[in-house]
Amino acid sequence: MNTFTVPPYRIKMVEPIKQTTYQDRKEYLEKAHNNLFLLPSEAVYIDLLTDSGTGAMSHFQWAALMQGDESYAGSKSFYRFEEAVKDITGYEYIIPVHQGRGAEQVVMPLLAKQPGMYFISNMHFDTTRAHVELAGATAIDCVVDECFNVDTFSPFKGNMNVEKCEKYIKDLGRENIAGIIMTMTNNSAGGQPVSLENLREVHALTQKYDISLIIDGARFAENSCFVKQREKGYESSEIKDIAREMFDYADIFLMSAKKDALVNIGGLIAIKEDKEFFQECQGRTVPYEGFPTYGGLAGRDMEALAVGLKEGLDEDYLIHRLDQVRYLSEKLREAGVPVQYPAGGHAVFVDCKSICPHIPFDHFPAQSVCNALYLEAGVRTVEVGSFLLGRDPKTGQNIESPFEWMRLAIPRRTYTYAHLDHVAEGVINVYKKRKELKGLDFDYEPKVLRHFTANLRYI
Ligand code: F0G
Repeated sequence: MNTFTVPPYRIKMVEPIKQTTYQDRKEYLEKAHNNLFLLPSEAVYIDLLTDSGTGAMSHFQWAALMQGDESYAGSKSFYRFEEAVKDITGYEYIIPVHQGRGAEQVVMPLLAKQPGMYFISNMHFDTTRAHVELAGATAIDCVVDECFNVDTFSPFKGNMNVEKCEKYIKDLGRENIAGIIMTMTNNSAGGQPVSLENLREVHALTQKYDISLIIDGARFAENSCFVKQREKGYESSEIKDIAREMFDYADIFLMSAKKDALVNIGGLIAIKEDKEFFQECQGRTVPYEGFPTYGGLAGRDMEALAVGLKEGLDEDYLIHRLDQVRYLSEKLREAGVPVQYPAGGHAVFVDCKSICPHIPFDHFPAQSVCNALYLEAGVRTVEVGSFLLGRDPKTGQNIESPFEWMRLAIPRRTYTYAHLDHVAEGVINVYKKRKELKGLDFDYEPKVLRHFTANLRYI
């Protein structure tokens, strides 16, 4: 039976949302050129576009906002933020940035010291890949094969394929590897966790070849909770201690704080001990993000972030959070809808390659399912597949993604199980009509990160 965990909070402020009619949605979608990113949010009933910056802050966070010190340099808020990050990571040097990609634009060009270098990752998130490429380097994804067996249980589908990673290092030459990036949880693989055993092996590799290990840890707390639930030897560990062990293996931690730090905006760069690298990062932070004690954030943002980082590690919160995602995933599986199994930490990933085998990858099967779900139930989701992946920079051809996902990302502390039931019903109805779905093509295609602003038409 699909049971659920009772939330460890009650609701003290509400934001009204409104259902629209099918006819309204048809008009909205046409005006948005069949791209859900172009919808006004008032056209959306339940918004599962992203879990990034869309969560609810606690009353402790709202109270902390009032203590924001808006001094340009050396504000009290910076020091509180710095202390919170140091306490969790054990790292020496901390820089705030406006969000995750702010950290990427500062760090990636410093690691890619000359043109033609490579980053190897369990899987690059799309903005990470974009910043790797903007820095003149190449992004290589190297996730374990289990990840591709969508319907088969495996506890750590986000892991790095360590053998393959070592082969890349040997073949490409150690001096050409700019860094190894562990994305935890592994967003593009379905929000799948990485085990500490796997991270230890990757750490050993980076030690052997003297390469920097970077954690892209937007969802490090969710990953830590999965380790507690699934990895032998961690059953009775504290979440915070698991996270600390994770940070011990890396050199640099980049975070989009809009996820596990439970804030609407913010990010950070944390460096374990390399002072020279920290100084280089500070140098780039000034022109791109702002003075290194505010990095594009208001003092009040840093206050909310400091509190949110700690709340994000609370075990009761995490258990409920992961359980909401599992609940939705189970409902869909019970109805035969193919999903990445088991569910990841922040989202349910629906496998649209097998739902729409009649739509070729370059007519974007997952986008077609996302649009159909919007029309059906007013639920906004996002395509993570060939539409997002874009074109090969060298040949200009569409790249075929290994996955065609519809991602249902669940904002933190925002929706109830009743909302999730509505979503499940909508997805199941679309699944029943799957043979009628049609592919899409471009009316307008932007050159970079095309999925955000492209215009599409049905073919
Ligand atoms: N790294 C990962 C693993 C992410 O999931 C994201 C953002 C970023 C970096 C970039 O952070 O948005 O703060 O600049 N992911 C969001 C998502 C956008 O919807 O998955 P950002």
